[in-house]
Amino acid sequence: MEKPVKWKIRIRDLLSSNKYEIPVTLKGWVKTRRGSKKFSFIEVNDGSTLQSIQVIVDGNLSNYSDVEKLTVGCSIRVDGKLVKSPAKGQNVEVQADKISVYGWSDPEKYPLQKKATSREFLRQIAHLRPRTNTFGAVFRVRNILAYAVHKFFQDRGFVYVHTPIITTSDCEGGAELFQVSTLDYANLPVKDGTVDFSKDFFGKSAKLTVSGQLEGELFATALTDIYTFGPTFRAENSQTPRHLAEFWMVEPEMAFCDLEENITLAEDFLKYIFNYVLESCEEDLLFLGKRNEVDIFGQLKKVVDSQFNKVTYTEVVDLLKNSGKSFEYPCDWGKDLQTEHERYLAEEKFHGPVVVTDFPKEIKAFYMRLNDDEKTMRAMDILLPGIGEIIGGSQREERLDYLQDRIKEMGLNENDYWWYLDIRRFGTVPHAGFGLGFERVLQFATGMSNIRDVIPFPRVPNNAEF
Ligand code: 4AD
Ligand code: MG
Repeated sequence: MEKPVKWKIRIRDLLSSNKYEIPVTLKGWVKTRRGSKKFSFIEVNDGSTLQSIQVIVDGNLSNYSDVEKLTVGCSIRVDGKLVKSPAKGQNVEVQADKISVYGWSDPEKYPLQKKATSREFLRQIAHLRPRTNTFGAVFRVRNILAYAVHKFFQDRGFVYVHTPIITTSDCEGGAELFQVSTLDYANLPVKDGTVDFSKDFFGKSAKLTVSGQLEGELFATALTDIYTFGPTFRAENSQTPRHLAEFWMVEPEMAFCDLEENITLAEDFLKYIFNYVLESCEEDLLFLGKRNEVDIFGQLKKVVDSQFNKVTYTEVVDLLKNSGKSFEYPCDWGKDLQTEHERYLAEEKFHGPVVVTDFPKEIKAFYMRLNDDEKTMRAMDILLPGIGEIIGGSQREERLDYLQDRIKEMGLNENDYWWYLDIRRFGTVPHAGFGLGFERVLQFATGMSNIRDVIPFPRVPNNAEF
């Protein structure tokens, strides 16, 4: 990574300093304080790094009585001298000449105490959990991963497109849409026995988007290689550790591209971003690996060094049937793969990433390109050990008549997709793309078992606090 431009000295910079006996100022939150009438040792953290810096305060300081009252969560400014530390496990410490308190924190009321706190409890205080070691580390890794996503695509000349969050079309099918409306729910306008959305804000029924893909395709068929990276919304009523109602998706879309090239790009992309965090987040990954009892370095390196296994859906069904395992949901040709199937493939069968291709058309979205067998589609899912599906993508149906047939077959209304069909009318090209669930990537990179713990403020059934 390029060296950051310094606009503020952070605790991270002080901890890695090779200059000693220099005057410094630092600002942060107290992690702990211990000491006596003669001395205090304060651990201060500002979120720039996992480690805190140790501040030593002499009992002769004029406001030492204030220092003695410092507890976890108080915010302070320290002016003093950076010195080589005689203590084990730290390079430097600060001898304070002056301590100023920005804000007190009542130890009786502050919910983040030293004693171990459960992840469930921390979700209820999501406004404070970034101050913990674990969540500080998770959100620093999240930041680096987001940067790596942009860097990967920008380095390859992809154009970043902001697709809309409010939409009037359904990309993926299914009833997982959140309605967006300004109608008065206590007094809904009704016409022919149903809600009259022509009276609504947009003049028709509008939703939160489940995917930026359809609009992404419009831009790919003008700018060739594009990507989106934004929030998407699904009203899935599932309380699983892998689903959120609001999650972030990365969706590249490439013109003049077929399924094979799409898969190659997806494989390169995953390897690139995993390698990027390996190189940039060593301290946080080491900590999270220990905390979560997951060999994060091992599992990330394994993906980076692996060759992705490729199988068709039809082969997968045979593999599952001959696995000798009894699944909760037995798999027959034509049924969608369940997480238990995906994890069996990635964890027990192939011991690494798996790309499954050519799914039956009945279980996939309308926009995918039909294979010559007219039964399967040019779709691909990428599965990772411990996670299951991390990427879903396909080559798109670029033939107007085929697409119109599919829209009809699936009971959709062609008029809703007139603009999407237009790009098949005017200079249509083969094109393909995929969607990566950003939080699932983060789960894999941090070892956090629940997806609610890798997004700042999780939105799930019955919870949209903060
Ligand atoms: O497989 P999906 O539904 O694919 C699409 O939305 C396509 N439009 C993508 C494209 O081709 N441009 O979703 C893509 C990925 C999944 O593989 C999964 O990782 C993630 O998004 N995902 C979720 N992550 C968290 N919570 C949910 N409820 C998710 N649903 C999907
Ligand atoms: Mg999918």
